[in-house]
Amino acid sequence: MSRVAICVNGIEVHGNSREPLLDQLEKAGFQPEYQCRNGMCGACRCKLKSGAVDQQDAMAFIAPSEILACCSTPKSNVDIEFEYQLQLQDQHVSI
Ligand code: FES
Repeated sequence: MSRVAICVNGIEVHGNSREPLLDQLEKAGFQPEYQCRNGMCGACRCKLKSGAVDQQDAMAFIAPSEILACCSTPKSNVDIEFEYQLQLQDQHVSI
């Protein structure tokens, strides 16, 4: 499956199963927090409420229900939640 739906903080956007969630969210106009973009810092962590992701090996500490958006690629439709309100940089989001 290459096309997936990404629900982020209750807003659904179109995504794919090829790119990391962090990249896809940025392309959709969101501005999630990040620092390293390679699984070291944990700044991009979010809760995986439903769905499945492929997550590359990561050093950052996360809870069992959390994923790192910078190194997780969706394997199915996913529902994720950041514990802060996401900033939007433009209007590419379809609600
Ligand atoms: S941005 Fe550092 S772990 Fe994702």
